[in-house]
Amino acid sequence: MHKVINPKIHYFGTPVVLISTINEDGTPNLAPMSSAWWLNQSCMLGMSSKSQTVQNMIREGECVLNLPSIDLIPAVDRLTLLTGRNPVPESKASRGYKFEANKFGVAGLTQVQSHVVQAPRVKECPVHLEARLVKLHPFEEPSSLVAIEVRIEKVHIEDDLLMDPKSNYIDPSKWNPMIMNFCEYFGLSEQLSASKLAPVFGPGSVENMNKK
Ligand SMILES: Cc1cc2nc3c(=O)[nH]c(=O)nc-3n(C[C@H](O)[C@H](O)[C@H](O)COP(=O)(O)O)c2cc1C
Repeated sequence: MHKVINPKIHYFGTPVVLISTINEDGTPNLAPMSSAWWLNQSCMLGMSSKSQTVQNMIREGECVLNLPSIDLIPAVDRLTLLTGRNPVPESKASRGYKFEANKFGVAGLTQVQSHVVQAPRVKECPVHLEARLVKLHPFEEPSSLVAIEVRIEKVHIEDDLLMDPKSNYIDPSKWNPMIMNFCEYFGLSEQLSASKLAPVFGPGSVENMNKK
């Protein structure tokens, strides 16, 4: 039996991303977000253009997408209801947001230099994706929301998440992303079954496709 409902949000479960960018004064900003998906070498990020992150990305044209695992929930929690924007936009101030210049310090996270962008990576995150802005796509619905298309330029990964130390393949059974599911934090369950979509090795595999 299905019922028709009118939910206020449709957050059916997406990974949490900590986006690092560079502010006007050269200091780093760090913001949690979770409206993100990837296709090939591109990523689409859904964010409010009132955020400091979007302003920084428009100005600098780059960012790092740091992917936290579930053990970093307390750090993400410490960044919640903070903005690097000063003054705080009225719509955020009324929801309890406060300005914070030192997001890395407040979160207890460590900056590491990136290879191809100015924004620092977050040492404690197992995955860092250095990325460049491709295009901003405004939402059709009246809002400050934009979909930000970025191209992944450099991928850093904790080596114990790889299938083997020399491979370019991440072992999905070892990577446990932090998932925002209707504004609550979840991890993933263990693998339930194999998928025929894109096996890594063997006939019809990603490995063989790349050789063509
Ligand atoms: C777990 C989590 C997920 C979030 N997801 C989004 C999101 O997908 N898009 C968005 O615009 N804001 C999202 N936010 C809110 C931003 O973190 C918030 O707007 C913040 O002020 C942005 O920081 P900035 O202004 O310094 O860029 C999320 C916050 C948390 C804690």
